[in-house]
Amino acid sequence: MTIPLLEAINISKRYMTSSGESSAIEGINLALERGEAIGIAGPSGAGKSTLARIICGMEAPSEGGIFLEGIDIQRDKSIRRRIQMIWQDPAASLNPYMTVAQLIIEPIEAFNRATGNRPKERLAELSEMVGIPKRLFAMRPHELSGGQCFRVSVARALAADPIVLVCDESFSSLDLPSLGELMEVLQNLQRILNLSLVIISHDLFVIRRMCSRVAVIFGGKIEEQGTTREVFSTPRSPSTRKLISSLLPWP
Ligand SMILES: Nc1ncnc2c1ncn2[C@@H]1O[C@H](COP(=O)(O)OP(=O)(O)O)[C@@H](O)[C@H]1O
Ligand SMILES: [Mg+2]
Repeated sequence: MTIPLLEAINISKRYMTSSGESSAIEGINLALERGEAIGIAGPSGAGKSTLARIICGMEAPSEGGIFLEGIDIQRDKSIRRRIQMIWQDPAASLNPYMTVAQLIIEPIEAFNRATGNRPKERLAELSEMVGIPKRLFAMRPHELSGGQCFRVSVARALAADPIVLVCDESFSSLDLPSLGELMEVLQNLQRILNLSLVIISHDLFVIRRMCSRVAVIFGGKIEEQGTTREVFSTPRSPSTRKLISSLLPWP
């Protein structure tokens, strides 16, 4: 039996709050194959960002584990770089004092010291992949559009040579024309680099367009999981049905 590229096995996360321990997610199981895109949908507060942070290894689960090619990412920290996150607000996550070239070279130097890759060549390669023209290299984040900031964030993530990209509401601040272009940028990378994508979005349009499978989370638990076509056309659970009819009013 072959193992999936990425597996979340029985993930739970509890936080201490002023009123005691509270559970953010509970008993989450997911599997992602190489080159596949999975969507995570659910209302605000459902636990999507908590799950995203755990998948990237930024937080440890209270129970369960994330396995990349069968290896627990909490046990072997060196493999965590293969899972990269695109932040919720790409523009706000970029250092405002750095130029585009500096922003992309920074992770290239941090990650590729061992491989001896020449930073300037890698900068040219990555910026071409994500569609950043050279004329933007000297600019700083405030001089860029939301879509251009998004591309810079993707280039920074790619510098780590990831096999999985996690996008947590990364599309929510974009206008409609940039949204279409950037979904295409990610889909091209998925194809060319055989990247796997985890697309977390309250925007079901994005998930329907990009993901072959979807998991719907309510109150920290997976309510329903299946192919995007199945779940969106014939949702089994009443809460999924309600979420879909409120967020996907058109067929
Ligand atoms: N660091 C934290 N400390 C305490 N509670 C948290 C923390 N992070 C998230 N939570 C709680 O966990 C639940 C899920 O939050 P979150 O993962 O941000 O949901 P979503 O991204 O789906 O909106 C919420 O009730 C939130 O208040
Ligand atoms: Mg969130």
